[in-house]
Amino acid sequence: MSEQRVYNFSAGPSMLPLSALERAGSEITNYRGSGMSVMEMSHRSKVFMQIFEETQDKLRKMMNIPEGYKILFLQTGASGQFSMVPLNLMGRTGEADYAVTGNFASLAAKEAKKYGTVHLAADTSDRDHSYIPSQEQLKLSGQASYFYYCANNTIYGTEWQYVPDTGSVPLVCDMSSNILSRSVDVSKYGIIFAGAQKNMAPAGLTVVIMREDLAGHELPYTPLMMNYHTMIEKDSMYNTPPCWCIYMLGLNLDWVAEQGGIAGMEKLRDLRSAMLYDTLDASRLFQCHAEKGSRSGMNVTFRTGNEEMDAKFVKEATEAGFVNLKGHRKVGGMRASIYNAMPVEGVEKLCDFIKQFDKAN
Ligand SMILES: Cc1ncc(COP(=O)(O)O)c(C=O)c1O
Repeated sequence: MSEQRVYNFSAGPSMLPLSALERAGSEITNYRGSGMSVMEMSHRSKVFMQIFEETQDKLRKMMNIPEGYKILFLQTGASGQFSMVPLNLMGRTGEADYAVTGNFASLAAKEAKKYGTVHLAADTSDRDHSYIPSQEQLKLSGQASYFYYCANNTIYGTEWQYVPDTGSVPLVCDMSSNILSRSVDVSKYGIIFAGAQKNMAPAGLTVVIMREDLAGHELPYTPLMMNYHTMIEKDSMYNTPPCWCIYMLGLNLDWVAEQGGIAGMEKLRDLRSAMLYDTLDASRLFQCHAEKGSRSGMNVTFRTGNEEMDAKFVKEATEAGFVNLKGHRKVGGMRASIYNAMPVEGVEKLCDFIKQFDKAN
């Protein structure tokens, strides 16, 4: 790792692979002989269109995205999808099922209520969102236009370890904080979306992977910019797309491919998260927020149970070069976000630091 860089455990925007940053740096004023930066190019130029198409192709290959599915490169963040999903999908029956397992699924359900009837298929707030419901616990309404869930709850540190079975009801999934970290059978989903700023690219890009036949059923007042059909028809270029982020996604995907693709990412993710959970479980001082069986491989939430001690941990960790470990205010304590670009070495060193802190306190 480059000397001045810290181990950044931020929940997002978060670490990007050093090689992707260095490549972007080397091309920043003159992209491959074009005489200009990617930031300065017309999105319709031949040189940018090549970046755009290659990035789509790389993502399609890496995630095994089948025919009949479109990849969209949009803006307005993952939060924009909280509106776009119901605006485009709610119309079929006027109802939808939402599994509320954390903050972002809760926000999505609240937004969807503006456009139709929302059934709570699950609500894990009874145990402070520390667990994921089992398939048997899901209450399916039977007439939903779609079933919505958030695969990884960034704030609470829980993650679905199975794909819900909803029969013929299309699955809509927010994968903002675990996309590209484990293999996903895309064909099981109607829509997968992700804000890019954790495992994909800088903030500003939202990736949507959707079954094409789900588009074209939008509510009549759907804004053009929020209409999947418009964006599919114009191949994400109804307006100016987030060009720089798309380029960075391409560089990140090259790095993922060099590490063995998604299978390689999954191995590393299992290694990192097992090390960290084992260290926390073996400590006297720390407890994890998420229940076993529901723990996230990306966001590890933990605490001492004493706010002053938590603050001491965060302060001393920061001084030792482990930054952004303070937990979200809704959960308190600490959160170590260990996305794809976090080197295993960073987690090893954090584990050593945790052990020392546990001994000393
Ligand atoms: C799982 C999840 N969904 C949605 C969001 C909101 O993303 P954005 O800020 O891109 O709207 C976040 C942000 O951290 C998130 O973690």
